[in-house]
Amino acid sequence: MKIGVLTGGGDCPGLNAAIRAVVRKSLECGHTVTGINNGWAGVLNADGRDIDDRTVSGILPLGGTILGTSRTNPIKMERGMERVKEGFEKLGLDVLIAIGGDDTLSVAHRLFQLGVPTVGVPKTMDNDVYGTDYCIGFDSAVSTATDALDKLHTTASSHHRAMVLEVMGRDAGWVAVVAGIAGGADYILIPEVPTPITDICDHLFQRRAKGKDFSIIVVAEGAQCTDLDDEDGSGAEIDAFGHVRLDRRGIGERVGREIEKRTKIETRVTVLGHVQRGGSPTVFDRMLATRLGVHAVEYVHKGMYGVMPALHGANIEPVDLATAVSQNRKLSVELYNLARTFF
Ligand code: F6P
Repeated sequence: MKIGVLTGGGDCPGLNAAIRAVVRKSLECGHTVTGINNGWAGVLNADGRDIDDRTVSGILPLGGTILGTSRTNPIKMERGMERVKEGFEKLGLDVLIAIGGDDTLSVAHRLFQLGVPTVGVPKTMDNDVYGTDYCIGFDSAVSTATDALDKLHTTASSHHRAMVLEVMGRDAGWVAVVAGIAGGADYILIPEVPTPITDICDHLFQRRAKGKDFSIIVVAEGAQCTDLDDEDGSGAEIDAFGHVRLDRRGIGERVGREIEKRTKIETRVTVLGHVQRGGSPTVFDRMLATRLGVHAVEYVHKGMYGVMPALHGANIEPVDLATAVSQNRKLSVELYNLARTFF
């Protein structure tokens, strides 16, 4: 078979490890691989090239994706899905492996419904694809965010300040909460739990009364603060999947400003931004990407389509794409309560 592979949506560490796994397992099974450039844009334009073991040699520890990526959404385009089918045929593919988050996987699912043999692979540093315990890229992003928190602690304690760290996480607070627990945060704001700024300020007063003269607050970019006076700066700019640009929202800056105004505690804000999406993948992400990539090809080899390999405990198991795209995976209440123990 000729297997197409693409990476779509935001990049993250571990994508190259997954591409390498897809290629190496495909060759072992006697198939060939076409690397499609820049996600769904590449299928629309029949833009791809043969990739083999020489192409993927040395890419395991590299961040980013050798295939490039984009947030192109064919579902929103005129004849978009028909054009994807045409591109698939022009490229001479028998099957497509789409590595991506919920947006990319929703296009893969639609394509499968249209009769194209498709397998997904879950990746997103946000960790919010439904049906899998972990997505490729999350562990690396959380490691970077935890490292940032460790560094912020020393400067926060030296200057007796409040430090706000804004991390990614549009709909789910996985990065904020896991990095917050691992990095000893004193308060965490996430999309799933709308919080008044007065609660955070009260908490900082209590800490000060206990003699703690610095505090670390982690804010997910999609966090809901219920009583901020100023304007949400996100404006009307949206991407092809209809998502508002949260980097323009400036929630970390707004929270920091409000804390300083209300508590008079000197406050500084750090926006970690795309640093979280860069660098070499952690061991966990290398292993996960390798396992998911190999399993995706095994499913192809067995003729199992419309599924994605998912991590359930210690095992990799197939999950229907229909299930995976049916909802967003929110942070577990249990994990948030664990974090609260340390506020
Ligand atoms: O991939 C998801 C994500 O990391 C979100 O947390 C964030 O809002 C978004 O990507 C930003 O992506 P970009 O700046 O590449 O459009």
